[in-house]
Amino acid sequence: MHLSSIKLTHFKNYGQQSLDLSPRLNCFTGLNGMGKTNLLDAVHYLCLCKSHTGLSDKNLIRQGDSFFRLEGVFETDAGRHKIASKFATGQRKEIERDGVAFTRLIDYIGLFPVVMIAPDDLSLVQDGSEERRRFLDSTLSQVTPDYLHNLLIYNALLKQRNALLKKFAEDRTFDASLLEAIDRQMPAPAAVLFEQRQAFSARFRPLFQQYYSEISGDREQVDAIFESAMSEKTLSALLAANIEKDRMLQRTSAGPHRDDLQLLLDERPVKKFASQGQLKSFLLALRLAQYELLRQEKQQAPILLLDDIFDKLDEQRVRQLIALIIGRQFGQIFITDTQRGRLEEIVSSFIGDYKIFEVENGSI
Ligand SMILES: Nc1ncnc2c1ncn2[C@@H]1O[C@H](COP(=O)(O)OP(=O)(O)OP(=O)(O)O)[C@@H](O)[C@H]1O
Ligand SMILES: [Mg+2]
Repeated sequence: MHLSSIKLTHFKNYGQQSLDLSPRLNCFTGLNGMGKTNLLDAVHYLCLCKSHTGLSDKNLIRQGDSFFRLEGVFETDAGRHKIASKFATGQRKEIERDGVAFTRLIDYIGLFPVVMIAPDDLSLVQDGSEERRRFLDSTLSQVTPDYLHNLLIYNALLKQRNALLKKFAEDRTFDASLLEAIDRQMPAPAAVLFEQRQAFSARFRPLFQQYYSEISGDREQVDAIFESAMSEKTLSALLAANIEKDRMLQRTSAGPHRDDLQLLLDERPVKKFASQGQLKSFLLALRLAQYELLRQEKQQAPILLLDDIFDKLDEQRVRQLIALIIGRQFGQIFITDTQRGRLEEIVSSFIGDYKIFEVENGSI
């Protein structure tokens, strides 16, 4: 699977831009602030209907305009498809394939898998558990529509439950039957999330360890362990056991929304004990393992977006990463760098077809 062309309209700092892409490797060079990351984000958006930055859709519209539109032609084993995605202020986002609109986003997510490795990604390793849940959710949503479906249901119920707990506290009332009505519905979607996260983590762990040792040269022991209160108890039991605490906190204190992927370096938490270099190796190993698992699950290579990795990583890690990428069955790759010379030097060791694009002020 690859993207053979892309067209951006009013997306971030782009006015109108069409590009014919290499099926293998596409490089974007240019000065800071010219639009390299924005271009990768457009590819990310076309695949997942959301920005990698976490920005809401309205912030992706070019300043002063009222809509953006992204179009892309994806070539797959099953044929070529024209995808168009549009968002206008005050309206729902639209996504269509060959002119036919998807009524539900969950039927679209996962058709064109993608993984992005970006400098701001260190938050995945360093920040709180929310980032790691986002990582699990983003990966598993691409694997099965069922996961995303249950995630949306669970999140909606959780929101209702928390609002109710808050209202009880504000009004100094309590109505157990209202709470029970929600508590009866939450365990089913929660069980799906738990089972899929657990099964994913079991397969993810050895892959992650293997990539880490290849990138770092096997100096330290690392681990990524899935942690969930549901390993011990069902969600029904957790909700019942925590009811007094939840009323006091005015929110739901236990459940899949508190799961984590604990990252360990020589059995200690990585964010406390790892060096800068080790953090970067961690990040790359997490992303490459994510890529590999998605590739296995989807039986096609995801698109790989590498943003600014040359600037942010030391040369040894970059070379190891590139060697890993070339050595395996990677699919289409997009790379950005501010220095054309450096990019060309590294890319010239790449066997096969590639294209280099110069980005200047939202124009290529
Ligand atoms: N909604 C928007 N409307 C107009 N311009 C925008 C919008 N969002 C972002 N930009 C502009 O896009 C530019 C940043 O582009 P981008 O992050 O792609 O740069 P870059 O080439 O990756 O730079 P760097 O080398 O620093 O990473 C900034 O000038 C920013 O103001
Ligand atoms: Mg950038």
